[in-house]
Amino acid sequence: MCGIVAYIGHRQAYPVILKGLKRLEYRGYDSAGVAMLNNGLHVYKKKGKVAELEDLLTGKDMNSSIGIGHTRWATHGEPNDKNAHPHTSGDKKLTIVHNGIIENYLQIKKELIQRGHQFSGDTDTEVLIHFIEEIKKQNQCSTEEAIRVALKRVVGAYVIVVLDVDNPDTLIAARKGSPLVIGIGKGEHFLASDASPIVEYTKEVVFVNDYEMAIIKADELILKNSSNEIQTPYIQKLDIELAAIEKSGYDHFMLKEIFEQPQTIFDSLRGRLDAKGGTVILGGLREYTTSFESAQRIIIVACGTSWHAGLVAEYMFEELTRIPVEVEYASEFRYRNPVIREGDIIIAISQSGETADTLVAMESAKEKGAVIFGICNVVGSSISRTSHAGVYTHAGPEIGVASTKAFTAQLAVLCLMALKIGHEKGSIPHKRYLQLLHELEAIPEKVEETLKLNDAIKKMAEKYKNAHDFLYLGRGYNFPVALEGALKLKEISYIHAEGYAAAEMKHGPIALVDENLPVVFVATKDAYYEKIISNIQEVKARKGKVIVVVTQGDKNIPALADDVIEVPEADELVAPIINVIPLQLLAYHIGVLKGYDVDKPRNLAKSVTVE
Ligand code: AGP
Repeated sequence: MCGIVAYIGHRQAYPVILKGLKRLEYRGYDSAGVAMLNNGLHVYKKKGKVAELEDLLTGKDMNSSIGIGHTRWATHGEPNDKNAHPHTSGDKKLTIVHNGIIENYLQIKKELIQRGHQFSGDTDTEVLIHFIEEIKKQNQCSTEEAIRVALKRVVGAYVIVVLDVDNPDTLIAARKGSPLVIGIGKGEHFLASDASPIVEYTKEVVFVNDYEMAIIKADELILKNSSNEIQTPYIQKLDIELAAIEKSGYDHFMLKEIFEQPQTIFDSLRGRLDAKGGTVILGGLREYTTSFESAQRIIIVACGTSWHAGLVAEYMFEELTRIPVEVEYASEFRYRNPVIREGDIIIAISQSGETADTLVAMESAKEKGAVIFGICNVVGSSISRTSHAGVYTHAGPEIGVASTKAFTAQLAVLCLMALKIGHEKGSIPHKRYLQLLHELEAIPEKVEETLKLNDAIKKMAEKYKNAHDFLYLGRGYNFPVALEGALKLKEISYIHAEGYAAAEMKHGPIALVDENLPVVFVATKDAYYEKIISNIQEVKARKGKVIVVVTQGDKNIPALADDVIEVPEADELVAPIINVIPLQLLAYHIGVLKGYDVDKPRNLAKSVTVE
């Protein structure tokens, strides 16, 4: 989704902003722009990559110690030069970058047109800056006051940063529903949609809250609430290193992140799991353990890959805690007036912590009195701050648009939670509890071993890269893994892929099977093993190409399969964390072999901050 970078201080703003925009490229975008103050306001914007904007600006005088920049992911108006940000007021005095959507912009636009405003593009953002200009003129007030008044009228979500020609030493920012981080340096401030453009300059940051406005000078940061009262900024220390947001020798972030998984899963468990001592410590759960123990129902809300993690969690929680679990697409849950009863707990799962649908779903459940528990990767994100309590996944920054290490970290954390609650509740036999703690502890090493399959999977990718469709099948704990495998493939290789519960195949998808269809089975040793062998035979009988993820040493399936991927043996409850790895690699290699930009697949955004 859109990204904002802005700077004010003693450095040249343009290089800081340009580098920052490149760091935000992973979020997904289709145009980019910057505005600088240098003997007047200069706005440059262009459809396409940040590098194209950079080419356009080569040789131009970009001297300025204040500036704003933006990468736009089109919502209102097609991606083109005129709809790109920054947008400027009619009198060319104010310019704005904006993330989010102003839902009532058409009404405001109509009123402004009646007052003589003319618009060059189709965006809600251009309407907003004209609206601020109009209020300023009508009320004869400061830009700050005009922004405050305008935002009271606005319906929707936003982060804005405004640059005013008449106040060349000040940036004004405000947020509601979209993230904004302010980095605090010595005599300088950095603004961005997430910490990645900031981390190389300073570790001291302020996460701006909803309905807050920031008035920022080089050496001063004033935060105000919507009633114009000054707030004390809460300065936090970033715990990410620059290396975490760079490729470190890998061809792509996605491959780096796949290979980081032994470490990231270890980090998710570190200090929380002590298999020898038989303990699980989850600080975020402490005050809510009894709520979980007495919960009548757990409702998991999430989107995409995080939703798949929720599906695995459904199996884990029902087995270990005996609490009924429902897993909902946040986008459906939020609009359906769901029944929330006393004793229901909502678990919201999100890598970015900014997914609009998930955020609104949890907010509406919160209004209905539910306890909200957040599982997020990004520290300080909106979802983590909206939750009553939660657990961070600690997978580190995930830059590749296709989620990989965040998924396995989510599974590790969800498994820990289910074990902790089940143990406290007494719903897991002690022996099984201890066995699973050891199983979980062994996962990083088994993932390391699974990654050795990389070369073999690359060869497989070569063999199947020209297929038009793929089917992914699994049962039980491996059913969500099949869904996730299919999602990974379609995201980055643009090959149509369906994930199904293997037994559902005969109710429809089996009609697709012929000698051209690769069917990927996730068929490691578990309670469904014999059953899934029958499903493999059904595909084989119809000449489908069968690729199977099996447990090392499997004696039955290889004879039925065209290709076999052997993974280390693990209990079925934790096996998804291992079994998804070859599917991530298969998708990655097919995407690369087809020549696609796997880190920034077309049309996709890393954090989906619009509904
Ligand atoms: C996964 O590969 C995706 N790109 C996407 O489905 C993602 O999982 C989804 O948008 C949810 O994001 P979140 O975890 O940041 O909330």
